[in-house]
Amino acid sequence: MQLRQILSSAVSRLTAENVPSPRLNAELLLMFTLSCDRAYLYAHPERELSADENNRYDDALATRIQGVPAQYITGHQEFWGMDLIVTPAVLIPRPETEHLIETTLDRVQVSPLAAPLRIADIGTGSGCIALALAKELPEAEIYATDISTAALEVARANASRHQLESRIRFLEADLLAGIEANSFDFVISNPPYVGESEEDHVQLEVRKFEPRNAVFAGPTGTEVIARLIPQARAALKPGGWLVMEVSGTIVESVKGLLSEWDDLRVNVDLQSIPRVILARK
Ligand SMILES: C[S@@+](CC[C@H](N)C(=O)[O-])C[C@H]1O[C@@H](n2cnc3c(N)ncnc32)[C@H](O)[C@@H]1O
Repeated sequence: MQLRQILSSAVSRLTAENVPSPRLNAELLLMFTLSCDRAYLYAHPERELSADENNRYDDALATRIQGVPAQYITGHQEFWGMDLIVTPAVLIPRPETEHLIETTLDRVQVSPLAAPLRIADIGTGSGCIALALAKELPEAEIYATDISTAALEVARANASRHQLESRIRFLEADLLAGIEANSFDFVISNPPYVGESEEDHVQLEVRKFEPRNAVFAGPTGTEVIARLIPQARAALKPGGWLVMEVSGTIVESVKGLLSEWDDLRVNVDLQSIPRVILARK
């Protein structure tokens, strides 16, 4: 069968199985199967697939239909213009997390902080935040922690893939444990912030396939952040910034936890949902 027919029957199959964005998924998995880009799919609609390619595409579609996110099948996700490796050991980086990078770069520009900047990314997962900041701030010293050994392996692989391994120090730690006091200009984190009480509202794919300790913080969603805030205060230099990703559900509680900090601000995402909270020590 030709590529064009195979793609169209895959879209119908994914649609019938209620997979969201069926065309996007069908194309992504075909690009993965054929190791090609989207332009190739459109330029070669008459290409015949081999039996092996057909079988591999069929397997990928069947896995997607079971609910496995496409990124865990292809092993890749783009973040801040970088192609990152993802495995089920790490949260799939989300586009909204790029607001953390924008907010941090904005603060770097306007804050009178002495060089070299020292930045800690807490709960680094795939390493997406640490890598994006290392890329944008070539002079900065960057630390990245995670409690998960498997996640840190992925983060290290991503750093090496983007020639940033000498720029980031990865540490296996519970939040900021072992980090020197009064030594950082920025503490950045996209921590687990979903409450177990909201579990029924979380997409099934996230619940079933993404690491539980990357998503859920405890009963209310603020448990990890409540521990992170005093630790960040101890680690930051006076005038240093804490920048965290939050959701609309927890933003008011988090504001309460930051009441003693200066310059408290909340930035919204493209859907006007509160997404980034920042405050200065
Ligand atoms: C929401 S994910 C964010 C991953 C990545 N920074 C991103 O933005 O895609 C939260 C990360 O925090 C890590 N984590 C959870 N509890 C932690 C703790 N107590 N100390 C350090 N890391 C923790 C998880 O393993 C996970 O990688």
